[in-house]
Amino acid sequence: MKFAKNILCIGAGYVGGPTMAVIAAKCPGCKVTVVDVNEERIRRWNSDDLPIFEPGLLDVVRSARGRNLFFSNDIAAGIRAADIIFVSVNTPTKTFGHGAGMASDLQYWEKTAHEIVAHADRSKIIVEKSTLPVRTAEAMECILQENKKGIHFEVISNPEFLSEGSAVMDLLEPDRVLIGSRQTESGRKAAQEIAAIFAHWVAAEKIITSNLWSAELSKLVANAFLAQRISSINAVSALCEKTDADVAEISFAVGSDTRIGPRFLNASVGFGGSCFKKDILNLVYICRSYDLNEVADYWQAVVDINEYQQERFVRKIIKEMFNTIVGKKIVLLGFAFKANTGDTRESPGIFVAGKLLEERAQLVISDPQALENARKELSGLDGSVEYDPDPYRAAVDAQAIAVITEWDIYRKLDFAKIFASMRKPAFLFDGRNILDHQKLFKIGFNVFPLGKPSLTHFK
Ligand code: NAD
Ligand code: UGA
Repeated sequence: MKFAKNILCIGAGYVGGPTMAVIAAKCPGCKVTVVDVNEERIRRWNSDDLPIFEPGLLDVVRSARGRNLFFSNDIAAGIRAADIIFVSVNTPTKTFGHGAGMASDLQYWEKTAHEIVAHADRSKIIVEKSTLPVRTAEAMECILQENKKGIHFEVISNPEFLSEGSAVMDLLEPDRVLIGSRQTESGRKAAQEIAAIFAHWVAAEKIITSNLWSAELSKLVANAFLAQRISSINAVSALCEKTDADVAEISFAVGSDTRIGPRFLNASVGFGGSCFKKDILNLVYICRSYDLNEVADYWQAVVDINEYQQERFVRKIIKEMFNTIVGKKIVLLGFAFKANTGDTRESPGIFVAGKLLEERAQLVISDPQALENARKELSGLDGSVEYDPDPYRAAVDAQAIAVITEWDIYRKLDFAKIFASMRKPAFLFDGRNILDHQKLFKIGFNVFPLGKPSLTHFK
């Protein structure tokens, strides 16, 4: 079959895989190929055991795979055949050298630029899908212009706003699609070509175009704003615990103001995920590099409060359990950084587990999807850790339960049965405020919600 366009995506991760699967499903006239250096990942994309867990993803992949959606390790062939290349490689925080712990590590991204130059033999549109520091497109252009073949590459920024756990829905019904380009004739034309892809299923008014730098920076700012809301409500949760105010009532009252809105105001053990912290630290680093230290300090505080909240959660567990947890069995309910994903990157569970192990607790980690990743995250740590997907089994003989992830299944557990199997006094620390605290208290638990009065049976 002859396709109208050949689309390539370099990077078959949490973004590249789902995004391209949806594009392929919605644009049957385009051939979409996703390539990656990781052979195991590609093998799994070609099977029904996908490398990532996302509700609804397998159906979308199956609907297009082998028809106009292909996964491959042949990067060179993919580049040669492509009209449009999305670059969706990882851009983690640098762990070495200048900017370590703050700046983005752009080595994977730069490698793709060189690969494109090496293998391309005609003009192409290059789309930044990865989240990148503002003005990265300029560096991309410099590398691409080094080609001696007289071919033109137009660089476009099309940041991705999907959230894990709802990636398919976010891609099918995005709030907006942002496309940044050079404000030149060829830049605008390329932006229109990318817009035409999304126009297959996204309403025209939701496809926003802007200059390149605004698009790149909007992505960092969107994540910073979202994380800032969580840090704001988490900071308030600490004050609630001192004053007997209820953080959920405050979220509701404050979020009812239409100027503020109700979403992203759930107090938690802290935000996790591969991007919030990394993107804010990157924003802080960029601000410092422009000597905007006050601006940098402002955004840094969002990350600082997140660390404080995780620390506070652990301190509370230790304090309430009579200042020692040595040898006590504690169950972490959930390890994924949020519900509906198996992803554990930057999960608050990692910090909580590490600290509890330092205090020599015996941990049991339970999660419906994230145990494989949890094992990897905790593999280097000393201490006693078991893994059990069954919360009922995990809780037998435990002294405490700490809710780390807001999985829906935890709301529906039979806590009377769980309580009966636990050692007494039994403690429950709800790091997500998802459980019925009064009911748990009546069952016999000593209950410690976040940002709400605790409910204990101690005199
Ligand atoms: P990921 O680590 O899951 O996937 C990246 C993939 O790129 C990996 O499979 C890796 O093997 C591959 N790769 C790296 N270098 C390569 C190369 N030279 N050639 C071919 N493949 C290469 O990362 P992700 O979560 O998909 O994130 C990708 C980008 O999207 C990041 O910049 C991230 O900040 C951004 N982002 C992520 C999310 C999310 O929910 N995870 C959402 C929006 C934006
Ligand atoms: C986030 C953004 O929401 C996406 O728009 C963005 O594309 C993505 O980062 C990215 O750039 O990677 P994601 O990290 O997948 O998506 O998940 P979120 O739903 O944003 O949750 C992030 C963290 O905040 C989770 O740990 C979640 O539990 C926590 N959270 C969220 C709260 O603690 N309280 C809330 O009210 C909402």
